Amino acid sequence: MSILRGRTALVTGSTQGIGLAIAQTMAAAGADVVLHGIDPDERGRGIAAELAATHGVRTAYLRADIARAAEAAGLVAAATQALAFPDLLVNNAGIQHTAPIESFPDDKWDAIVAVNLSACFHTMKAAVPGMRERGFGRIVNIASVHGLVASVNKAAYLAAKHGLVGLSKGVALETATDGITVNCICPGWTDTPLIQPQIDARAAAVGGDRAAGVRELLREKQPNLTLLPPARIGDVAVFLCGPAAAGITGIALPVDGGWTAQ
Ligand SMILES: NC(=O)c1ccc[n+]([C@@H]2O[C@H](COP(=O)([O-])OP(=O)(O)OC[C@H]3O[C@@H](n4cnc5c(N)ncnc54)[C@H](O)[C@@H]3O)[C@@H](O)[C@H]2O)c1
Repeated sequence: MSILRGRTALVTGSTQGIGLAIAQTMAAAGADVVLHGIDPDERGRGIAAELAATHGVRTAYLRADIARAAEAAGLVAAATQALAFPDLLVNNAGIQHTAPIESFPDDKWDAIVAVNLSACFHTMKAAVPGMRERGFGRIVNIASVHGLVASVNKAAYLAAKHGLVGLSKGVALETATDGITVNCICPGWTDTPLIQPQIDARAAAVGGDRAAGVRELLREKQPNLTLLPPARIGDVAVFLCGPAAAGITGIALPVDGGWTAQ
């Protein structure tokens, strides 16, 4: 399947977890891929080289801290210089912190809003003009079920992810006649390092091991009782960037094992 051959993807936060899975799935579909993260150049370039060798595509790695607005805003130009203009943009990088509102640290609020929301604004702002010029663009923003529904102790994450869903709908409308689509994927519990602290907390609460912690998390919210493999999110991202999804824009698509059906 080479439905993305001839396209160049920029995937933020793509050295591990869902971002790496998206990069791998897109490369498998034929796209050239610009990986991004905060890892040292040597590690990032190693992952990029492996991806290129496995899938026969071109890759590059960009190191940038997108909590800083200027670094997020510069990513599209840097990707263009490193490989080509990214006509597929996946805003995936994200961070989490859980605490009740009255003790939620101010610096965690600022960081989560900066990475999970503001960085997406900056990359989209930078990408849309070039997409318009080309009459083609695909933007996929990795939101969360927490962009659609709430859970306790996630004030900043909820605000950022709900904000990202709204922002994406707005940009979808602004670009609807330009050959550009803008959509969110809203994953439920997915098997990545991001959720490990929450698994550990649940495991500790029931005095069990990691498997017990995972069971507790799933039992509460995710009806299919299965942690999503990150590759399932990659598959949906490739679909949203492919020809079959040309008529889909402005949606927030749950991939959540039934979480938001409840
Ligand atoms: N894992 C889940 O259950 C789940 C569920 C719903 C949504 N999500 C979302 O999926 C996305 C990917 O999460 P994941 O689970 O793969 O997490 P992860 O922690 O495995 O990966 C996040 C990536 O973002 C990068 N990143 C973080 N801060 C950055 C910064 N300041 N600058 C540059 N890069 C930065 C990290 O280096 C890492 O590569 C996030 O937006 C997350 O909110 C995850």
